[in-house]
Amino acid sequence: MEYQAKELFAKHGVPVTLGRVVETPGDARQAAEELGGRVVVKAQVKTGGRGKAGGVKLAADPDDAVTQAEAILGMDIKGHVVRRVLVAPAAAIADEYYFSFLVDRSNRSYLCIASAEGGVEIEEVAHTNPDAVAKVAIDPVSGVDEAKAREIVAAAKFPADVAEAAVPAILALWKAFVAEDATLVEVNPLVKLADGTIEALDGKVTLDANAAFRHEDHAAFEDKAATDPLEQRAKEKHLNYVKLQGQVGIIGNGAGLVMSTLDVVAYAGEEFGGVRPANFLDIGGGASAEVMANGLEIVLSDPDVNAVFVNVFGGITACDAVANGIVAAFKLLAERHETVSKPLVVRLDGNNAELGRQILADAGLEGVEQVDTMDGAARRAAELAAAR
Ligand SMILES: Nc1ncnc2c1ncn2[C@@H]1O[C@H](COP(=O)(O)OP(=O)(O)O)[C@@H](O)[C@H]1O
Ligand SMILES: [Mg+2]
Repeated sequence: MEYQAKELFAKHGVPVTLGRVVETPGDARQAAEELGGRVVVKAQVKTGGRGKAGGVKLAADPDDAVTQAEAILGMDIKGHVVRRVLVAPAAAIADEYYFSFLVDRSNRSYLCIASAEGGVEIEEVAHTNPDAVAKVAIDPVSGVDEAKAREIVAAAKFPADVAEAAVPAILALWKAFVAEDATLVEVNPLVKLADGTIEALDGKVTLDANAAFRHEDHAAFEDKAATDPLEQRAKEKHLNYVKLQGQVGIIGNGAGLVMSTLDVVAYAGEEFGGVRPANFLDIGGGASAEVMANGLEIVLSDPDVNAVFVNVFGGITACDAVANGIVAAFKLLAERHETVSKPLVVRLDGNNAELGRQILADAGLEGVEQVDTMDGAARRAAELAAAR
């Protein structure tokens, strides 16, 4: 959210005004009184275009701040419900620019996108006036130094009188980008104030989740209230799970296999009135019985799920280990008093498939069926899901 982005910016010396984050109109009044003068009331949601949607409003005095907060709190902006607003001093804006650093995957590098035409959507500017949008490649080894910052200012056609103020702000943004392991740092608008200084009036930061282990403080940025409760629980169990809107629970090993399983189930489900996959869940290569149990527990606790398709291709972890994992998972779930009550279709193929199938057959788990092919198993799982 903007206020969190600004807190990160402040930590690295990017000029910002933090303001107050509040959740009620009454607190908005108090914040406006404390800040004094004109304020802006800004919806704090993880999406852009808040201004256009009516989520950013000027307020002349504390009474007005209450009115604006009442209007903005609870508003739905592109599917995000506003639960808090930022009350910040109204800035005396002289000019608005666009600025961002991002990972440029196609060039295995970093990129700066900047424009003297800020405040509006940069996609729009790129469309209507592409020459106004500068793209400056950044060498990941040398990064951004003062000379590079000046090159960016010139390429973006920032007016000459803001160059001196913009250079340190750009260096600070680069520092934030690197130090926080961000994949995007975006400021729109970066503004020139009436007194000639530069300030980041908005902020959007995307953090690289793969670097989360280096940043304990980043966990606080997660919006638990907006996260699906099943996804939240899966995350706590370190499962790679995404909730979808169907009826067939999916468990597979390997992201590619799981993605194609979703396709195959959706395709097979057409025959049964549009049955669809209920989730993505990749339990990874070396899935233990505990991981399988955790995965089953999450998928089975989804009330939308009518049947589960476990699709495993044995590789480094052979099918017999996976089969033993499923058997052990059933025992674990029984111990947790979460007996499996929905049908399971298991397809085992690859390394030691025969042995794995034998282990499952011998275990005689109730409600578990085996189908040898992926298409066949997907069809059976869809059929079972449609029948319930
Ligand atoms: N503190 C502020 N003071 C005055 N105007 C502001 C302030 N913050 C934002 N604005 C104005 O509102 C517009 C939209 O706000 P912004 O934070 O960029 O939200 P979004 O990008 O989600 O629409 C800005 O381009 C700017 O013109
Ligand atoms: Mg903006």
